[in-house]
Amino acid sequence: MDRTVVLITGCSSGIGLHLALRLASDPSHSFKVYATLRDLSTQGPLWEAAQSQGCPPGSLETLQLDVQDADSVAAARARVTEGRVDVLVCNAGRGLLGPLEEHSEDDVGSVLDVNVVGTVRMLQAFLPDMKRRRSGRILVTGSMGGLMGLPFNAVYCASKFAIEGLCESLAVLLLPFGVHLSLIECGPVRTAFQEKVQHGPGVALDGVDTQTRDLFSHFQRHLEQVFCRTAQDPEDVTEVFLTALRAPRPALRYYSSDRLLPLVQLRLADPSGCSYVAAMHRAVFSDEPVESRDSAPKESGSGELAGPELDTPPGAPQ
Ligand SMILES: NC(=O)c1ccc[n+]([C@@H]2O[C@H](COP(=O)([O-])OP(=O)(O)OC[C@H]3O[C@@H](n4cnc5c(N)ncnc54)[C@H](OP(=O)(O)O)[C@@H]3O)[C@@H](O)[C@H]2O)c1
Repeated sequence: MDRTVVLITGCSSGIGLHLALRLASDPSHSFKVYATLRDLSTQGPLWEAAQSQGCPPGSLETLQLDVQDADSVAAARARVTEGRVDVLVCNAGRGLLGPLEEHSEDDVGSVLDVNVVGTVRMLQAFLPDMKRRRSGRILVTGSMGGLMGLPFNAVYCASKFAIEGLCESLAVLLLPFGVHLSLIECGPVRTAFQEKVQHGPGVALDGVDTQTRDLFSHFQRHLEQVFCRTAQDPEDVTEVFLTALRAPRPALRYYSSDRLLPLVQLRLADPSGCSYVAAMHRAVFSDEPVESRDSAPKESGSGELAGPELDTPPGAPQ
């Protein structure tokens, strides 16, 4: 029986690496995984993990693929010996943290290029063949930052909101083609993402007013707490990709954790956006420690949804 050919972007670390391993070591031996990396010199950890997890020979191959470079995307596609990709996973992404006025045009352009245009490049390269074959699955690593705005993550959220529009629009079109596209919406996940994020802790904020600087420090402390308390392991998140991959009729959106849903619902419940903005501001910038807010009274105007669930995930940038 033909194996399912999977191509994943961004496999040097994190979700991409763990998903590649999970599929390549699946007991069914039914996947051939092309784990792609922007820079092949970073493939060491993937192969070490593949060895320790006992991925069978031939189940995993690495390819160079930089989503910012259309030639590199085309070259990787040409090296898929099966001549087809059954499952495309658009996972590569990067973050940008800090006050908006501190971001250089290059930083902004590069985050949008990787997260948005990079995903478009991948879809343009692989979707036409799936449509022609009337078969294929596309999984896109989405984020709570694509479902709600988060302070000090404005450009990252803009990129992930764009991904939502891109994917939702395509999903509507693709219904008659037998090609299924799903977003895997992730909350905070313990990966290298925070280390690789541009303008992480230690960023110089010389040009920023004092109040914004204080709020940023506050936000960073909050973020640390939220990560400690709620971040998931990438191994758990990869199971959500598997659920989408195996579903006979996949949904457009899957969520790595139910914790995200009250916030999503809060945004929808008040179309003015006022409840969400107030509740998120309170949750992130309140001086109370996260733990003591679990029993806090609900914010007026934010209905049933401003309870403990709301307090848990909001500061996380992804
Ligand atoms: N971690 C979270 O909390 C979280 C939550 C929600 C969503 N996400 C999303 O999950 C996805 C994976 O992130 P992660 O958490 O696993 O972090 P990660 O460990 O930093 O992985 C990001 C991957 O993207 C790759 N990448 C960056 N620019 C690229 C480019 N131009 N071409 C190809 N690959 C590129 C990185 O490669 P290099 O090592 O070469 O830079 C790395 O392999 C991202 O889309 C992120 O937005 C993460």
